[in-house]
Amino acid sequence: METELYKSLKEVPKGSLERSSLKSVEGVQLLHSTADNWEKIACFQAKPDDLLIATFPKAGTTWMQEIVDMINNDGDIEKCRRAPTYIRFPFLEFWSPLPTPKGIERAAEMPSPRVFKTHLPFHLVPKSFWEQNCKVIYVARNAKDTAVSYYFFDKMNLIQPDPGTWEEYLQRFMQGNVVAGSWHDHVNAFWEKKDKYRILYIFYEKLKENPEREIRNVMAFLEKELPDDIVQKIVNHTSFTAMKENHMSNYSTLPDSIFDHRFSFMRKGDVGDWKNHFTVAQNEEFEDDYRKKMAGTSLKFHFEL
Ligand code: A3P
Repeated sequence: METELYKSLKEVPKGSLERSSLKSVEGVQLLHSTADNWEKIACFQAKPDDLLIATFPKAGTTWMQEIVDMINNDGDIEKCRRAPTYIRFPFLEFWSPLPTPKGIERAAEMPSPRVFKTHLPFHLVPKSFWEQNCKVIYVARNAKDTAVSYYFFDKMNLIQPDPGTWEEYLQRFMQGNVVAGSWHDHVNAFWEKKDKYRILYIFYEKLKENPEREIRNVMAFLEKELPDDIVQKIVNHTSFTAMKENHMSNYSTLPDSIFDHRFSFMRKGDVGDWKNHFTVAQNEEFEDDYRKKMAGTSLKFHFEL
């Protein structure tokens, strides 16, 4: 756990961070520091046995990271407690404004088989991942719950742009003016490409509805067989309650200078929480916009269970 990254994060003085602004790369809004270093990120060299966990932010990335780590470690909880999520899995495009090792630097140093996280939309994922035919697990979550989760995350994460009020934020989300750009473009592009490349497309709502079934899907994709009792152990260890209590998966180890811990990373973990936040008028406007942007796709989401 005492890696260079962890030590440098702990040293960030409280109040020293300025929230980042957004900057566009090929029409997609990214953190300014990521966009400024785009050329270096885009030419990252993947290896054939790399696994990429790709998501639009707040779709259940951390959940999938824990599931994959448990599968890769044959359900050994102690091994999965070796370090916090953000240390275990390099975040490919993260080019922190802090003097900490960058995502691609950490990724390059990692021994194979490597597992990375990315929020990049399909067309910005470094080309080498597709050239090397790497496996990709894509997790998608319905747009309304994603927007709510992202709003609270942006309040908590002091590197992200200030979300403003919920009303302002929802407008920005619809316009794609958030880190990773348009939710609609993101989920649609991976959906369209899923049969051309080795992409396993998983829905947050289905994972919530039947975690064992989806974990077995992930195991099959990773060509991993495990006995039933280990699968059950993975289901239990990756439940919302277990992950919320686990300091290695709940982001509580990040210092107050980076995450405002008055908010919780493991916030609710529900399907349908959007109903507690969208007004009737906001819901109508959102659905109007949604229908237009999702017209012509076979991709369907569940907004409640
Ligand atoms: P909420 O803010 O709705 O609670 P990401 O890891 O992509 O940033 O996504 C974070 C969201 O996934 C948060 O959603 C978090 O609570 C939820 N999450 C994380 N682990 C989960 C689990 N084991 N079960 C259900 N939801 C989980």
